[in-house]
Amino acid sequence: MTAPGRFIAFEGGEGAGKSTQGRLLAEALRARGLTVLMTREPGGTPGAEAIRNLLLSPPGEGWPPQAEALLFAAARADHVAHLIRPALARGEWVICDRFVDSSRAYQGGAGGLGDDAITALHAFGSDGLRPDRVILLEGDEAALASRLAARGEAADAIEGRPAKYHRAVATAFRGLAEADPQGFARIDAIGSPEDVHARILAAIADLLP
Ligand code: TYD
Repeated sequence: MTAPGRFIAFEGGEGAGKSTQGRLLAEALRARGLTVLMTREPGGTPGAEAIRNLLLSPPGEGWPPQAEALLFAAARADHVAHLIRPALARGEWVICDRFVDSSRAYQGGAGGLGDDAITALHAFGSDGLRPDRVILLEGDEAALASRLAARGEAADAIEGRPAKYHRAVATAFRGLAEADPQGFARIDAIGSPEDVHARILAAIADLLP
C-alpha cells in the first residue's frame, strides 16, 4: 500500500537555515525510499513565481499591507491547486520552504492585519490546507543576523524591513507555535547543520511510515 502523502512546512525568520534543512530532510526521506517534492513560497509554480517577483521587487511605491496579503494568498492558492494537493494525492511527501504561517507571522502579526484576516484569505484561497507538521526554526536574533550577513545577498523588499518588524515576526511565530503545540515543532536553529537536522528528524519521526 502506498504510504499517505505528508506535508511538512519549514518556517522561521530570515537566516534561520530553512532551505538547508529542507534539503537535508528531503535527502533523509529519499534515503528511506520516499518520494519527496521540495518547493517554496512565495513561488513553486509558474504563476506563483510571477507573483513572487511582484512581491519581492514591487513595481511602483510598494504594496499596501492588504494588497501584499492578497498577493501572498493568491500565489499560495495557485501553488496549492497546481502542485501541493496533486503531490499529496499521489502519496508524496511535500516539503515547503515557508507556507501560510509566514503570512500569519509577517502580514498578520508584524504587518498588523491580524490573524483572522489571514486565516480567512487562506480558507478562501486554499481551502485552509494545513501542513501535517510545521518545523519552526528559532534562534537568537544576533546569531541569525550574522548568518544572514555572511550570506551577503541583497535584501528583498520584505527582508529589508527594520529589525523591529523582524522581531515582531519572531514573536508572532512563537505565539502561533505556543497555540498549536501538536502542529508545530519548535527547533533550535543554532548548531551545526547536522545537529539541527537530527532535531528535525526526531520532530517528524511519528509521521514516518
Ligand atoms: P525568500 O527569499 O524566500 O526568503 P527566505 O530565504 O528568508 O525564506 O523571500 C521570502 C520573503 O517573503 C521573506 O522575507 C518572507 C516573506 N514572506 C511573507 O512576508 N509572507 C509570506 O506568506 C511568505 C511565504 C513569505
